[in-house]
Amino acid sequence: MFHRFVAAAALVLALLPSCDQSGGKGEATPKPAVKVVAPPVPNATKQYAGTTLVYYGDQAGFGSAFEQALCDRFEADTGIHVKYIPHPPGATETYAALQRVFQAKSADIDVFMLDVIWPAAMAPHLLDLTQALGETSKAYLPQLVENDTIDGKLLAMPQFMDAGLFYYRKDLLQKYGFAGPPETYDDMEKMAKTIQDGEQKAGNMHFVGYVWQGYTYEGLTCNAVEWEVGHGGGAIFDAAGKLDVQSPAARAAFKRAAGWINTISPVGITSYQEEDSRNIFQGGNAAFLRNWPYCYASCESEGSPVKGKFGIAPMPHAAGGKSASTLGGWQVAGSTYTKHPEAAREFVRYWSCNPVQTWRAKEGSWLPTIPAVYEDPAVQAAKPLYKDFKQILPSVVARPARRTRELYNEVSSTYFQGVAEILQGDDPDVAVGRMARDLTEILKELPQ
Ligand code: GLC
Repeated sequence: MFHRFVAAAALVLALLPSCDQSGGKGEATPKPAVKVVAPPVPNATKQYAGTTLVYYGDQAGFGSAFEQALCDRFEADTGIHVKYIPHPPGATETYAALQRVFQAKSADIDVFMLDVIWPAAMAPHLLDLTQALGETSKAYLPQLVENDTIDGKLLAMPQFMDAGLFYYRKDLLQKYGFAGPPETYDDMEKMAKTIQDGEQKAGNMHFVGYVWQGYTYEGLTCNAVEWEVGHGGGAIFDAAGKLDVQSPAARAAFKRAAGWINTISPVGITSYQEEDSRNIFQGGNAAFLRNWPYCYASCESEGSPVKGKFGIAPMPHAAGGKSASTLGGWQVAGSTYTKHPEAAREFVRYWSCNPVQTWRAKEGSWLPTIPAVYEDPAVQAAKPLYKDFKQILPSVVARPARRTRELYNEVSSTYFQGVAEILQGDDPDVAVGRMARDLTEILKELPQ
């Protein structure tokens, strides 16, 4: 008994974020100005009251505050207690932690969030939801439901959608005489440099032009795919399904991004994840930010130095090219190893339901996965984000997760490591050659 307790405690400790929840830069986890209260559980049942579920959930931006509110409401309405453990700030670290749990066939985690790139790879460990939620899932975006359906079984429910957004300071564009956000990378670079130089001269030595996610992890794959496609290349593969990491477009893209470091982006950018870059932009210390929709709510909240001063736009692209915005987002799922499958399905049903998505869209800024929620006038009135997002939607591109299935993590790791080497100063021509060779080897393992 004691041994089991120690093993469980050790596993839970191993799952806790390895640094503080700010993403390592020492800022406190942001909280909404007023306490958020989650909507009631639709058709709540007390059938599973007394059960405890361990949930590995969100932590970025207002994520923790919203998760806690959901836990409180779920417990009040169903009698099911939820022990909420925030997952680490990075998707790559979270993937590794979940894989450890699955490999041990551990029942210590019952329910968890799942990145949009993982269902195909994690399918054997996911609780079947087909019977419980198959009918409900018909109201959700079909592409996302398809992504969560493996071999005909619904294994996760789409909770929120992500897409790379270009955040810009409206007030600073105006101050420096720019008519609107940049469309091309050339313009972005010029604007970022002008604003950075001006703000530094005016006394803010911490001010930088552009922040993004340059750390060696999944977030770098998301950024690099946008650069590649924005330069006319593919999202690791071209439209015909051929590996595409060493085309002239890809090389030009990676070379360009490396050139931002120490000119318009800080030297430390190669250690930045989402929260690090958000903290700098929200603190009023950057002209431009590449990040996900969740940042919108915290940047816009009471007391935020950039409240009312920023907008969102499609990602810039190379001259003659088009914008690309990486598709991200999270699902909610249960583990096949849980001792409480029915309670876990109730959890998934609530966490992904329409009222919760509506509430998260209104009070936070998570993009719903149910088309009807976008049409809700109260959602549209809550934030311009949902209307502005319409102009970004056509540029959304997916990472090659479905086609590479359980190899995706290896493919992406090889890609982001190659890109990281270029950011750290390696010759792009040599690095892309190495990357292509390694990726070709990995892809040989894919069943044809
Ligand atoms: C966001 C996205 C997710 C992506 C991750 C990378 O959480 O939703 O899909 O993999 O960022 O850092």
